[in-house]
Amino acid sequence: MFRFLILILTLIQTSIAGSLTKQWEDLRVKHSWIDIPRGWEYLSPAPGNMSFDLRLGLKQNKIKDLISSLMETSNPSHERYGKHLTKAEAEALVAPHPKSVKAVTLWLNFHKFSSEDVNYSGGWVTFRTTISQAERMLGAKYNVYHHSASSQKVIRTMGYSIPRELHHHVDIITPTTYFGTLRSMRTTNFLQPEIKPIEEENLAIDFSANASVPTSCNTAITPACLRALYKTSTYVPAATKSNKLGVVGYLDEFANRADLQKFFRQYRSEAVGSSFTTVQVNHGGDNQTNPGVEANLDIQYTTGMSFPTPNIYYSTGGSPPFDPDSDTPTNTNEPYLDWLNFILAKPIIPQVITTSYGDDEQTVPYEYANRVCNLFAQLGSLGTTVFFSSGDSGVGGGDCRTNDGTNKVLFQPVFPASCPFVTAVGGTTRVNPEIGVGFSGGGFSRYFARPLYQNQAVSKFLARWGTQHSGLYNATGRAYPDLAAQGQGFQVVIGGRVGSVGGTSASSPTVAGVFSLLNDFLLTKGKPSLGFINPLIYSSALNGFNDIVSGSNPGCNTNGFTSGKGWDPVTGLGTPDFLRLMSLV
Ligand SMILES: *[C@@H]1O[C@H](CO)[C@@H](O)[C@H](O)[C@H]1NC(C)=O
Ligand SMILES: *[C@@H]1O[C@H](CO)[C@@H](O)[C@H](O)[C@H]1NC(C)=O
Ligand SMILES: *[C@@H]1O[C@H](CO)[C@@H](O)[C@H](O)[C@H]1NC(C)=O
Ligand SMILES: *[C@@H]1O[C@H](CO)[C@@H](O)[C@H](O)[C@H]1NC(C)=O
Ligand SMILES: *[C@@H]1O[C@H](CO)[C@@H](O)[C@H](O)[C@H]1NC(C)=O
Repeated sequence: MFRFLILILTLIQTSIAGSLTKQWEDLRVKHSWIDIPRGWEYLSPAPGNMSFDLRLGLKQNKIKDLISSLMETSNPSHERYGKHLTKAEAEALVAPHPKSVKAVTLWLNFHKFSSEDVNYSGGWVTFRTTISQAERMLGAKYNVYHHSASSQKVIRTMGYSIPRELHHHVDIITPTTYFGTLRSMRTTNFLQPEIKPIEEENLAIDFSANASVPTSCNTAITPACLRALYKTSTYVPAATKSNKLGVVGYLDEFANRADLQKFFRQYRSEAVGSSFTTVQVNHGGDNQTNPGVEANLDIQYTTGMSFPTPNIYYSTGGSPPFDPDSDTPTNTNEPYLDWLNFILAKPIIPQVITTSYGDDEQTVPYEYANRVCNLFAQLGSLGTTVFFSSGDSGVGGGDCRTNDGTNKVLFQPVFPASCPFVTAVGGTTRVNPEIGVGFSGGGFSRYFARPLYQNQAVSKFLARWGTQHSGLYNATGRAYPDLAAQGQGFQVVIGGRVGSVGGTSASSPTVAGVFSLLNDFLLTKGKPSLGFINPLIYSSALNGFNDIVSGSNPGCNTNGFTSGKGWDPVTGLGTPDFLRLMSLV
């Protein structure tokens, strides 16, 4: 008996001493890829002595509470409707648990980092380390990869692990397995040289509320077409001191001020002389001799729709591309995070924000997509509406094969459109009536479950749709787009010349403009901004949209989905009717 007790005590002692070191060496996989993400190729091992910044996203302790609060404050039949959180209230909900900070600190101490080496800020833990040390800490193997389309080189690993004990304290570590970079992102626009630009707006457009839309809008879209079509042309904004509309740009895309003046002279003459503000985020540039198609399209159509509402263009940059032959630390900037962390730290945030970028959901690690999606929820909880273009490849571009090793063909949802906390905007074309445009991105997330707010609308669609394409899409996933707007033949001034541009990149700024005017209407009456609109548009504002009932979005060698009565995965609930929306919000 006595000997037995000693034996037990010895066992306990050994395991305590052992566990102190062993717990940090007991690594479990956090994320790994089977194949190198498409578009990237292996170049060489990363130099072990090179230093770079690792960034850990700590678990947001009360993220569930933030999301349920968001669902209440954005639900028009809830007593908390419109009671947006203050910045401090939202930050308290997303702050990490002290235990998470402590656990990560102990792990870093074990690896000889002291508190001076580490920056704790906004739920992120950032520290500089070398490739070889990061490889030891994360059981990873960092390599240099090349992206031929953007000729960018990055350092990433095909997989990484963290101590078992940290799994419930850490959401993500970057840079690791997300290969997306600010330069490899995909915009959702394309030039349409086949559509002859109209250099002068010589249409005698009748701006009265019920005027029919000119047939020229069948091919070439100008602000006059959109304002007549979506019935904003008689509205005069008044809350221009408080209301703001933001456009987020990446990829070294700069919005050009001279081009905007020419655009105004031709298509929105009363706006001549007004402009927008550029905010440079994370060393984003503002090269006025190098106008970007995406940037000009976005800013010309947000201002064209919302004038005289102040518009802000966020030029989001990153560090210089990584050069394996120099000692410069590698680029750790990744899409969305830098901009989100920047904007969430600001005391005043535009009430409407539009972004026209999106990539196949499967190229973004789930943990990363989830973290970014939660940051969009945080923006919504503060009273901001976040629009994203739904993508330009219908139900999926390319061969649509999965990257999980099985190489199955599946429809490819696009992120961030697939995040349930953003409003995804698809495309239409033609007028009287509008129809869904063939490239309009739409489908069902494989990461995010269908949110309650769209349950009824989506169930109705699925019941009508039947079994076609079953197995190719995830019927229980978050369904998108939510809304739509014109997406072809937008007349855009680029470098002084008018060109035609298409894509859901055009649709998102258009809808953003309409909702910015709705906010103006509410703010003028002393009401709060709309904030996250999805629960509203799927319920009491349902009749504020023109249901689009024809068109389809082929992709993945299929005919895709088709538009029909009610919500559908081509045009969502339809295109906005500002006058009806004004009476519904
Ligand atoms: C890393 O090692 C290489 C080769 O051993 C050397 O040429 C280079 O200067 C070192 N770089 C740093 C930052 O120490
Ligand atoms: C820590 O990071 C935050 C956010 O990036 C930054 O604002 C702050 O200056 C950093 N602090 C130090 C001491 O580097
Ligand atoms: C426009 O049409 C609606 C419904 O058809 C009608 O109620 C409204 O009075 C009309 N407005 C004008 C300015 O004609
Ligand atoms: C601005 O863009 C032009 C045209 O691409 C380029 O020639 C010039 O070097 C750029 N200027 C700066 C400061 O980057
Ligand atoms: C379908 O979506 C759910 C979320 O609703 C997700 O958990 C599941 O993994 C998805 N299934 C497939 C096959 O993608």
